[in-house]
Amino acid sequence: MRYLTAGESHGKGLFAMIEGFPAGLTVEAATINEQLKRRQMGYGRGGRMKIESDTVDFLSGIRWGKTLGSPITLAVWNNDHKNWTEMMHASAEHKQPDRAVTRPRPGHADLGGCLKRNLRDVRDVLERSSARETAARVAFGALCKTFLATFGITVQSYLIRLGELECPKNGADVAAEEINAIADQSIVRFLDSSYDEAAREYVDKTRAAGDTLGGIFEVIIHGVPAGIGDYAFYDRKLDAKLAQNLMSLQAVKGVEVGMGFGVAAVPGSQVHDAITYEDGQFTRTTNRAGGIEGGMSNGMPIVVRVAKKPIPTLYNPLPSVDIETKMPFKATIERSDVTAVPAASIIGEAICAIVITELMLEKFGGDSMSEIQRNYAGYCEQIRTF
Ligand SMILES: Cc1cc2nc3c(=O)[nH]c(=O)nc-3n(C[C@H](O)[C@H](O)[C@H](O)COP(=O)(O)O)c2cc1C
Repeated sequence: MRYLTAGESHGKGLFAMIEGFPAGLTVEAATINEQLKRRQMGYGRGGRMKIESDTVDFLSGIRWGKTLGSPITLAVWNNDHKNWTEMMHASAEHKQPDRAVTRPRPGHADLGGCLKRNLRDVRDVLERSSARETAARVAFGALCKTFLATFGITVQSYLIRLGELECPKNGADVAAEEINAIADQSIVRFLDSSYDEAAREYVDKTRAAGDTLGGIFEVIIHGVPAGIGDYAFYDRKLDAKLAQNLMSLQAVKGVEVGMGFGVAAVPGSQVHDAITYEDGQFTRTTNRAGGIEGGMSNGMPIVVRVAKKPIPTLYNPLPSVDIETKMPFKATIERSDVTAVPAASIIGEAICAIVITELMLEKFGGDSMSEIQRNYAGYCEQIRTF
């Protein structure tokens, strides 16, 4: 399976084109729209989320509610495009050179992108580097979640930190099947909504100070059988794939698996998970490894922790330099989020769902859902009787 996303923040829309997805998966737009809606929630978002109300449009590869096995194209149209038709027009006739953006924003792709591609209008970069791109990934991730659900695999997430505010409850403290239901109730996806009031005050205070907040979210994946990923090939390792894909999410600066960086500070006896054999299957007494050993799933819940930096567009802007005049300036204030960690956690779910789907297809691959289900059932039997 491979996929590509396309589209600009204020262009016609965001698109995902997917090749290698099996035939015969039942798909409903409503299921995908639900995930797109979750991506737009969270306290601390800016004006754009009020303009956009994302829904998916199936352009190819799906007929009468089922995937066909042919390339799938998902579109999320931009409502805001109607206000940007001239600025984003494909034809040179609509060019407005006097409206070029020449002031790169610190913390963004703006300056590096202009230097790299020899572009003199920052808009040529920022339209694509924007996290609006993730609408396409969330749409595709929702399709992958639907695929994974047929194997009993769930992908859920929650926040454990918003700036300095920590919520001590994590996925191990609540019933596995209720994690998302609980986190979805909180304005910032904490698993303990008694922290919501403090979160609201903190975001409001930060907004008033012209500043922004980062945070940490965890994604927890239940139901993945042992043996997904590979120990023998560097580029098929499950942890490596998750890290690469999660790091590709805008503003992510760190990814940990299981204990993560915590493994460095304690002896090995407090890091590894003892193997036991109970009720006819291998299991672990603890899950410090976060469900991954040797680049493969070990049958325990997969737990990844992701650090997102604060939004770089500040209402008290940092200095920068105009690319034409070479003169310093303080960035003009644009509509922007105060924090988007809750949204990032939903996108993180989508990204993990895509990675697990890719590796499930690599292991149980087939052209149709029934063929994959057969291969999967055969493997489960192999493990059960091992
Ligand atoms: C869901 C989400 C929403 C974001 N919203 C904004 C925003 O409103 N304003 C902004 O300046 N950056 C925003 N960002 C962050 C930038 O997209 C990101 O920092 C920038 O593209 C630079 O990439 P890097 O931080 O990975 O280096 C958002 C990121 C995510 C994941």
